[in-house]
Amino acid sequence: MLKWILAASMLVAMPAISHAQDLKKGAKVFKKCKACHAVGPDAKNKIGPSLNGVVGAKAGVHDGYKYSKAMMDSGLTWDAATLDEYLTKPRAKVPGTKMIFAGLRKKADRDNLIAYLSTFAADGTTKEAAAAPTEASTKAAAATPAAAASEEERGS
Ligand code: HEC
Repeated sequence: MLKWILAASMLVAMPAISHAQDLKKGAKVFKKCKACHAVGPDAKNKIGPSLNGVVGAKAGVHDGYKYSKAMMDSGLTWDAATLDEYLTKPRAKVPGTKMIFAGLRKKADRDNLIAYLSTFAADGTTKEAAAAPTEASTKAAAATPAAAASEEERGS
């Protein structure tokens, strides 16, 4: 019985762990953006627009934010590919953008960051994060077999 519980919980937990790590790393990379951008339910436009729902959105359309002409005329739609290029070197992808940011040189940083951004819906709620286990629930799942084991020992 215990073996079965362990095997089952490992099957569930393993892919979840690597996924959670990517998002966690992405959240860490996002610190570099936080001076100018916010995400989440209370996100406001700062120096740059709120990035809620940015993955899948057209460039330069976030409500109440005054973009540069360059951004509004870019004709871009933000997906993994265009964001990857933009975040590598913003002023190369959108010449004349008023985003003053050198770029993220590491592909892994960009990938994790884009994965993180894609969890925020336009209203600031988190889509995937609600379905994907958080770090806490992953830990709780990992702790469960041990708890079950001591439960079983006491029982017999
Ligand atoms: C120094 C401030 C600053 C930093 C740091 C910064 N940005 Fe920006 N960002 C801006 C500004 C300003 C704009 C608006 C650009 C324009 O209108 O040309 C912008 C625009 C954007 C857009 C386009 C949004 C839209 O609605 O079309 C994306 C995506 C973006 N930033 C992502 C990021 C990410 C991700 C980071 C961190 C790696 C980052 N930015 C770091 C200031 C910043």
